[in-house]
Amino acid sequence: MVSPHNKTVSVRSPATVANMVCGFDVLGFAVREPYDEMRICFSDTPGISIVNEDDFGLPADPQKNVAGAALLAMLEEVEIEAGLTLRIRKHIKPGSGVGSSAASAAGAVVAANHLFGNLFDKKDLVRFAMHGEKLASGVKHADNIAPCIYGGVTLIRSIHPLDIIPIASPELFVTIVHPQIEVRTADARSILKQQVQLKDAIRQWGNIAGLVAGLLQNDHDLIGRSLEDVLIEPVRSILIPGFDEVKRKCREAGALGGGISGSGPSICMLSKDAVTAKQVEQEMKCVYDRLSLPHHTYVTTIHPSGIEVMND
Ligand code: HSE
Repeated sequence: MVSPHNKTVSVRSPATVANMVCGFDVLGFAVREPYDEMRICFSDTPGISIVNEDDFGLPADPQKNVAGAALLAMLEEVEIEAGLTLRIRKHIKPGSGVGSSAASAAGAVVAANHLFGNLFDKKDLVRFAMHGEKLASGVKHADNIAPCIYGGVTLIRSIHPLDIIPIASPELFVTIVHPQIEVRTADARSILKQQVQLKDAIRQWGNIAGLVAGLLQNDHDLIGRSLEDVLIEPVRSILIPGFDEVKRKCREAGALGGGISGSGPSICMLSKDAVTAKQVEQEMKCVYDRLSLPHHTYVTTIHPSGIEVMND
């Protein structure tokens, strides 16, 4: 039984890039920007109260809110004598492809765990937060949730049972462009082929293994060669205006490689230095300016530790 107290826990929950190009549903990494801000405290009102402090119009009903769904799953395993109030200020736009729902779900359970005196380990928190992903996309997947909670690059070898392996990586510079269209993860999943050719699967798992080896060995060339997706990108990229041109121009500007961030529409490119990452940003802007498509860009780095508890 957890006894209520007056403390408020504040967290910063970062955006994440799921798939890391070739590792559909099994690889992902956290980035330093953007991030959501959340605060949680006990309340006299029973149940979970969600206060949305942004303009995204997300539901306040905990059953319909991804953060609420994650907290409800957590509360099935912990007894508390009070209600909870969760305040969410999102900066990660929903439907942008950089793990907006994961940031909400993971941020909520990490903050609540802190409020409860750290009853659960990271793997438990991933398990709870995946209920938010299920609500958002219809399927439990952890390639945004796990890096959000663990930080850095994570490999999700399996979700039944959960087997999460943090992967050491060299410092990499990340450039993200978010063309201002919305792609719902559920839609981006529904168009995928359910069968793949063996030759394509061989190429894909060669790339995944190459990428992991390249990260562990600090081998930028190997990382670059492995940032190729022959299964998912050919299908999903048709949803993203300018995709092929952005990718080509960014490679010409010196990026190691990249592709669709999560289920899109954001595109993410990796570079080995900050100067290249800024040039890559210029190339992205040029393409979308020419297409007259409003867009946001971020130049950031991999976040080594994921969600930060701010008032420790
Ligand atoms: N791996 C998931 C997908 C991530 O690509 O559908 C969604 O953000």
